[in-house]
Amino acid sequence: MEAKNLRFEDIKIDPEWHFKNVRSIERFTHGYHRYPAKFLPDLVKKLIEEHTKLNDTIADVFAGCGTTLVEAKLHGRKSIGVDINPVAELITKVKTNPIKPTILQKQFDRLTDRFSQFNLNSYSKISKHERIDYWFVPENKNKIAFLYDNILKIRNKSVKGFFLVSLSHILKNCSRWLQSSTKPQVDPKKPLIDPFSAFNYHTKQMIKKNKEFYGYLEEKDFLDTRCEIKLEDARKTSIAAGSVAAIITSPPYVTSYEYADIHQLTAYWYEYVTDLASFRRNFIGTFYSQNQSLKCHSMQAQKIVDQLFSKDGRVAKEVANYFKNMQNVAEEMYRILCNNGHVCVVIGNTTLRNVKIESAEVFVELLEQTGFKIKDVIKRSIPNKLIPTIRDKTTGKFVKLNSANSKLVYPEEYILIARKREI
Ligand SMILES: C[S@@+](CC[C@H](N)C(=O)[O-])C[C@H]1O[C@@H](n2cnc3c(N)ncnc32)[C@H](O)[C@@H]1O
Repeated sequence: MEAKNLRFEDIKIDPEWHFKNVRSIERFTHGYHRYPAKFLPDLVKKLIEEHTKLNDTIADVFAGCGTTLVEAKLHGRKSIGVDINPVAELITKVKTNPIKPTILQKQFDRLTDRFSQFNLNSYSKISKHERIDYWFVPENKNKIAFLYDNILKIRNKSVKGFFLVSLSHILKNCSRWLQSSTKPQVDPKKPLIDPFSAFNYHTKQMIKKNKEFYGYLEEKDFLDTRCEIKLEDARKTSIAAGSVAAIITSPPYVTSYEYADIHQLTAYWYEYVTDLASFRRNFIGTFYSQNQSLKCHSMQAQKIVDQLFSKDGRVAKEVANYFKNMQNVAEEMYRILCNNGHVCVVIGNTTLRNVKIESAEVFVELLEQTGFKIKDVIKRSIPNKLIPTIRDKTTGKFVKLNSANSKLVYPEEYILIARKREI
């Protein structure tokens, strides 16, 4: 396929990649923790089956909550994930490392037995980060602190991590955060949810899924298949050059989700950060990078940035920065891939300030410039329920469906498949 002759408007939606009515998001450990812009497991499964073989190493440089790594393990492929977000690291570690079900059940029973020892008075004076006081009413804050303390006492690291993921998942439900929103927004009318009941319920679901995952891997003899998650920057990883057979990844969307903000509850409780501003800084796609340059390496990107600049200078600079970062990521992916290895990038186009941000087209150009050969570009439609497809017309941030001030974006996305040219 010649990238320069590629006309995106002529690409037809491929129904084979639609995965209508699938329930794979609930399968095995995929449902442990909510995560914005999660991969559809079936999509990753198909890419793994088409582009890799048993015992290959697959990398995801924007691993998020680890969908690629979980699917890799289910297929007997080794995997390495990279993410800048410590919350993603925690979730992925737990989702890819099943625990012997009998051990897990015993530890859970021990932990829940301690709930009866909770005494509001002994926890009422604890001091926590001021943002925790902002998001949680005192009773819930104290119960969560009790749960957290008791989880930290568990010696088995995998079991401790497992309960930390469960607790992290329920933090939003038990806080004052507007449940339907990814934006940090208080819902003054939100009914109070008891942390002990929420934790109990969610952990039981996770225990069931752990058993399923453990049993499947044991039967296939994949329990010990290597899987590693690194808390690193996708632009510069510690992955050895030429060590990876395939990369399956989905980069953050441009100025849409603020992962640092979205995961702040866990980040404050688990003391991953003390202030949000420094937490945000290293995320690609953030609106807070304060980049000053408008220069782009890709001609397509430059066209978009120039158009944007006439409407909003700040947004133009952030988008220029995003594409510059993506160029660095393309170079890093090239470095870690073996010759003839494949990279599969899932990306959607969008609109900001009425300017079309054709990220897929820019990515094709960046991949070609880096030394990849484009093999295929697949267009698929996204079922609304899986990914928020609406942006606020003014701010450009994702908002919930049916909001009056909204506009449909990402009704479809692209899967770019490229091969590293032999050197
Ligand atoms: C679209 S999400 C990936 C979701 C993933 N496919 C899944 O199924 O969970 C993009 C991810 O990129 C991560 N990210 C943003 N900037 C990064 C950086 N500089 N290096 C590594 N990861 C980064 C975010 O933390 C987020 O987890």
